[in-house]
Amino acid sequence: MKINIITIDGPAGSGKGKIAKYVAKKWKLKHLDSGIFYRRIAYIISKKKINPIDKITIKILINDIDQISSQKNKILRSEKISNIASIIAEYKFVRDFVNTQQKLTVKKSKNKNGFVIDGRDIGSVVFKNANIKLYIDVDVNIRAKRRHKQLIDMGEKSIYPKILKDIKLRDKKDKSRKNSPLVIPRGAYIVDNSSKFSITQNQLNIIIGKYINGKYWN
Ligand code: CDP
Repeated sequence: MKINIITIDGPAGSGKGKIAKYVAKKWKLKHLDSGIFYRRIAYIISKKKINPIDKITIKILINDIDQISSQKNKILRSEKISNIASIIAEYKFVRDFVNTQQKLTVKKSKNKNGFVIDGRDIGSVVFKNANIKLYIDVDVNIRAKRRHKQLIDMGEKSIYPKILKDIKLRDKKDKSRKNSPLVIPRGAYIVDNSSKFSITQNQLNIIIGKYINGKYWN
């Protein structure tokens, strides 16, 4: 049996990107980070000095975009862009646009093995029929510490209490928004990633490997 889609959802700073990268490399899948699309739109908004709450202008901007790049870039990971991304991710027209972009990326891809896609609503909304779903969770204080270190390593200024506050706010927004809130997708494996790599790489590979060999899910 061939694997197509593995989804990895979870809150900010849960380490889902790192797990996704590992899984992609190990199983020769393509990694798609859905957050990049929200971040890229946030970046354009910031560059054009558009107010993130100005829905009308953002809608016009989105209508003018045919395709948006899924390429990663360090510039998209700043705290300012994170905060704008989290505001615009609440808008339904933004989510519809990003979802279409993700589906197009998967459709157009020449990678025969499939994709590992991480985000907030991938297993619950965008790729509901994914073969394997993971939900990654981590205590908020640990996530804030990781994010703080990441920013310092990137050479950005970072004040821990502010990062903690920002992450809590983003969690609240992600979990309580009307459109595609962050939820544990049906049938997802819940992974507590509070220690270095709580689901061991071995366990993860057993899950994926058994599925690939068609012996799993009875
Ligand atoms: O890396 P981190 O987990 O902090 O964020 P991200 O995955 O790059 O996503 C940036 C923002 O986009 C998040 O704060 C979410 O609000 C939003 N997002 C979303 O709503 N749905 C997704 N599938 C991915 C990201």
